[in-house]
Amino acid sequence: MVETVTGTARSAGVDYADLLASDSHPVTDVQKTDSPMPAGPTVVDASVYYSREFHELEVERLWKRVWQMACHEDDIPEVGDSFVYDIASLSFIVVRTGEEEFRAYPNACLHRGRALLHESEQGLREFRCPFHGWAWHLDGSLKEVPCHWDFPTVNQETHSLPSLPVGRWGGFVFINPDQNAEPLDSFLGDLSSQFPHVPFERRYKAAHIIKRLNCNWKVAQEAFMEAYHCVATHPTLLPTLGDANTKYDVFGNYSRAMSPSMTISPHVNDHYAANPYTDRRTFSKQRHELSGATYERLEEGRVRVTMPDGRSGIYDDHAHHVEGDKFHADIHLCDWVGGRLPDGVEDEATPDVVGEFAEKRATAAAAVREQMREILGDDVDGVSDAELIDPIYLSLFPNLHPWGDFNPIFYRFRPDGDNPEQCLHEVMFMLPAPKGQPRPAPAKLTFLDLDDDYLDAPEIGSLAKVFNQDTLNLPFVQKGLKQLQEVIFGNYGETKIRHFHELLQRWVA
Ligand code: FES
Ligand SMILES: [Fe+2]
Repeated sequence: MVETVTGTARSAGVDYADLLASDSHPVTDVQKTDSPMPAGPTVVDASVYYSREFHELEVERLWKRVWQMACHEDDIPEVGDSFVYDIASLSFIVVRTGEEEFRAYPNACLHRGRALLHESEQGLREFRCPFHGWAWHLDGSLKEVPCHWDFPTVNQETHSLPSLPVGRWGGFVFINPDQNAEPLDSFLGDLSSQFPHVPFERRYKAAHIIKRLNCNWKVAQEAFMEAYHCVATHPTLLPTLGDANTKYDVFGNYSRAMSPSMTISPHVNDHYAANPYTDRRTFSKQRHELSGATYERLEEGRVRVTMPDGRSGIYDDHAHHVEGDKFHADIHLCDWVGGRLPDGVEDEATPDVVGEFAEKRATAAAAVREQMREILGDDVDGVSDAELIDPIYLSLFPNLHPWGDFNPIFYRFRPDGDNPEQCLHEVMFMLPAPKGQPRPAPAKLTFLDLDDDYLDAPEIGSLAKVFNQDTLNLPFVQKGLKQLQEVIFGNYGETKIRHFHELLQRWVA
């Protein structure tokens, strides 16, 4: 096991605390809190990402014992509405039993085990097993056993549905399969303090997709738990994101990343930083700020790549050479520039922004503040620039990822049934309902299978292009892991992953 020495090394470039100090609006104590993860183990055994044994350990020791979000209250608005929540090989039913009351049960008939529901259903009055017709009231009490005379030992005491611990946070229903679980509130700690302006109770589900991916659920979620991958996976972000200057903190069962927006990546070398690129267009023309090569869309699947020394070739959107000069073209930029374009999102001229960081940040934040004024009223005048424009990304152990107040993104990652090498990436957009108005009805779910593209879900807009870049790597990670003994994480830049594994090890130990 590798132990880091001090854990205090940080990237060159801007310091997030300095950006907060130069914010044009008041910043909160929560933003200023410094809670870095201490130096500690930075490696984990590669087999945790593919072995069946580890998958089964997770089922027994994690999923059967941990608090987990099952659904949103709005998914089951009326008494009798039921939601089937599946995790790994397990299945549970969540049912609304009163205006403010929810219950959860294992989704298994107590006769011979048939799932009571194979999909979510609305307006149930009872749970009746389709096999031999045993029935339970919504409160779990036994209602009817056909030929009850033949089951003399079966009664209300012995065969009511076991009611599982249920908790609520931010409009979501959480369940815990463990009857002896600690209360949800103590598990969450002060998570709510991270959302001082737009608590999740005020938000509604404006989009909801699930994408099936060819990798372990931890591989997928960890691809979203650090800004470290931006340098190679999202090169278009480098001119406006201090990726390596992200601030990471850990608090009990959750962790936080705050990335400085409208600054420049410390990876961008001085020559390019001093020569802002005026030809940039959101999707069709980009410069790779590390190599200096320009990527220009000719048509779908065709990109002209021109190196700073003048060599030029045409590549497809998977970075395969088509004609002209041969060199290494970047697959993530070829995909970005030459791949499908999102419907309804403008391909705009987006020249590099020059000037002082604080000024740029205040200008960008002012625009967001005005957009948010319609929804939040004048409360927005008490919101910092950082909260409005920086990617602020929380992760609640084991698999829930709500972003900060002014970012609608909300992820969940789950193993896909019993296959440790497949998972489900869930994306919800949680938007604030306009002040004083009830939450609109939740969006319908779009399911994307292995071969579907995130762009098949137009409701997530240009984020689909970003997810395509992220998930390009994942099957190759899953494959490569089997040739490794262990993987290693950056002490600071991969804080959130280290924190996750520290907790995971504790749960499965
Ligand atoms: S398995 Fe459910 S009633 Fe027989
Ligand atoms: Fe990413």
